[in-house]
Amino acid sequence: MRTIKIRAGKGYEVQIGAGLLAQAGEKSLAVSKAKKVLLVSDDIVYPLYGEKVVKSFTDAGAEVIPFVFPHGEASKNLETYGQILEAACEARLTRSDMIAALGGGVAGDMAGFAAATYQRGTGFAQIPTTLLACIDSSVGGKTAIDLKNGKNQAGAFYQPQIVIIDPEVLETLPEIEYRNGCAEIIKTAVLDGEELFEKIRKTPVREQYEDIIAYCVDFKRKYVEEDEFDLGLRMKLNLGHTIGHAIEVCSDYTVPHGQAVAAGLAAISRAAAELGYLAPADSQRILDLIEAYGLPMTLDDAEEDLFNAAAADKKNSGDTMRVIVPKAIGDCVIETIPREQFHKWLSAGGAGK
Ligand SMILES: NC(=O)c1ccc[n+]([C@@H]2O[C@H](COP(=O)([O-])OP(=O)(O)OC[C@H]3O[C@@H](n4cnc5c(N)ncnc54)[C@H](O)[C@@H]3O)[C@@H](O)[C@H]2O)c1
Ligand SMILES: [Zn+2]
Repeated sequence: MRTIKIRAGKGYEVQIGAGLLAQAGEKSLAVSKAKKVLLVSDDIVYPLYGEKVVKSFTDAGAEVIPFVFPHGEASKNLETYGQILEAACEARLTRSDMIAALGGGVAGDMAGFAAATYQRGTGFAQIPTTLLACIDSSVGGKTAIDLKNGKNQAGAFYQPQIVIIDPEVLETLPEIEYRNGCAEIIKTAVLDGEELFEKIRKTPVREQYEDIIAYCVDFKRKYVEEDEFDLGLRMKLNLGHTIGHAIEVCSDYTVPHGQAVAAGLAAISRAAAELGYLAPADSQRILDLIEAYGLPMTLDDAEEDLFNAAAADKKNSGDTMRVIVPKAIGDCVIETIPREQFHKWLSAGGAGK
């Protein structure tokens, strides 16, 4: 088992190890005085792992109230969020009790926002079950729900009290979700450097889950500890996401996030090589790795549509845009460019070709 301490919020541990799911209750209650636990999960994950987790909490002395919602991003909305709060209130949870998320980023983001706001903040545990949630969304304290006109438009920074990761749950993950997680791991490798890059190039992620998850969590730890509220350094984690986000918008969110990030990372790597930031050989290595994981690498939308979608992103201010650009594997910079210049980046990245 590995333990990574995150010094954000009140500070908490990320525990990673095969078989930990059966100890989720015991471990969570070791850092909380909760007597009641609202267990938030979706209708795919709960039938697979709910019973084991409920038993672990019950054995550790807590009463569990399951809250199961229909799986998928469409549930990450005000309605389900409201239902979670009402369920907590109906079960008479107090601020010393706990909301626990068992599932992917959707369960984690939504349960986290409910925990942040129920009685102005109740206990919170993350038990991630997708690769993406294990390496990214369960750590760092960003919680949110979607509004009608935008993703993640209501939320809070709210760190969990504990994150419990059992890589064994990833055995049931559909192939597409595996690949989506791998896209973020490749992004992490381009930001972090050769060690992780070579590790996942030589051996598939799924053959070394515990190692790679620990590596990525420790990577994210540094960014979260330095910039808990996303005011500077943490922006770098958006590598591949500026174009990726535009792809998601153009597809009306039918292209999954991981696929969009992979294509966005491929595009920015091509553009960085063409515009003289990145050695062409390194750009090619990034493209080869994306391809090896069966992820998309081309931009299929019209340049103008991508430009408009990217320019409208909430992360931009005024007439400028921020682009995260790889200069080498392990060395990425934040470039602030006049908005119009983004056309050049998109074309160099392969848009409209
Ligand atoms: N808070 C953050 O920092 C952060 C970071 C990245 C992404 N996110 C958010 O995360 C969400 C995406 O997360 P996701 O990709 O985990 O999506 P998700 O939670 O919808 O999970 C994807 C699918 O996998 C299924 N699933 C989950 N675990 C499984 C398992 N072990 N076996 C079989 N099926 C399983 C789910 O039922 C779902 O259908 C988005 O809403 C995104 O905005 C948040
Ligand atoms: Zn992402």
